[in-house]
Amino acid sequence: MGITVCMSSAGTVSNTGEPRTCVRNIHHLNYVSIPLWEKKVDYKVRCVDTSSINWRNIICGLQLQCLPYDEIFPPHEGWWFVAFERSAGPVGFAGMVISSRWTDCVYFCRSGVKEEHRGNGLQKKLIYARLKRARMMGMNWAVTETFSNPASSNSLISCGFKLYEPTVPWAGDTCLYWRCKVNNAL
Ligand SMILES: CC(C)(COP(=O)(O)OP(=O)(O)OC[C@H]1O[C@@H](n2cnc3c(N)ncnc32)[C@H](O)[C@@H]1OP(=O)(O)O)[C@@H](O)C(=O)NCCC(=O)NCCS
Repeated sequence: MGITVCMSSAGTVSNTGEPRTCVRNIHHLNYVSIPLWEKKVDYKVRCVDTSSINWRNIICGLQLQCLPYDEIFPPHEGWWFVAFERSAGPVGFAGMVISSRWTDCVYFCRSGVKEEHRGNGLQKKLIYARLKRARMMGMNWAVTETFSNPASSNSLISCGFKLYEPTVPWAGDTCLYWRCKVNNAL
């Protein structure tokens, strides 16, 4: 269903190229269709079993596609979540490992969404899926960092993360560091 807006362009010229004195009542109509509703895309997020080579390959492929300049984070470590769209298959991913510094804390290591599926709240779904799992595991904190990435920073803020200054900034001084009290976010 949609509404159609008609824009008319009128005016003709004679064979000699001069404007006709009498403009005939001929209109060229250009149709611009404006959808009234858009098809809602249904995304699902689930934790996948990375002991399977198939899942490891899918996650590495998504890392290469979404983060071509980053080192691939080994998917056999930690917990990995994949976002699916029914017809497109896997369209996003995210990983989480136990922090190497704190025993009650998880570290969100990577996430990405295929370009054509961005802007649908998928990164936030992937953050919540990891927070939920962290809570099930009895973790108290989740930490991560962003580098020059307003979209990721906004997603983290929306999900309850706050900026902080770690005593040891593990990824250098130019990153923003984020932490979230797992129970407060869910
Ligand atoms: C970052 C990325 C994962 C975001 O995925 P997404 O599914 O489109 O994100 P979401 O739809 O959940 O929301 C992104 C948030 O950032 C905002 N945003 C989007 N683009 C933005 C931009 N250019 N500047 C500022 N904010 C932006 C959105 O409005 C949304 O904010 P909200 O939480 O207030 O609604 C995706 O762009 C991506 O894969 N980028 C390349 C890989 C990457 O940078 N990964 C993260 C680092 S590990």
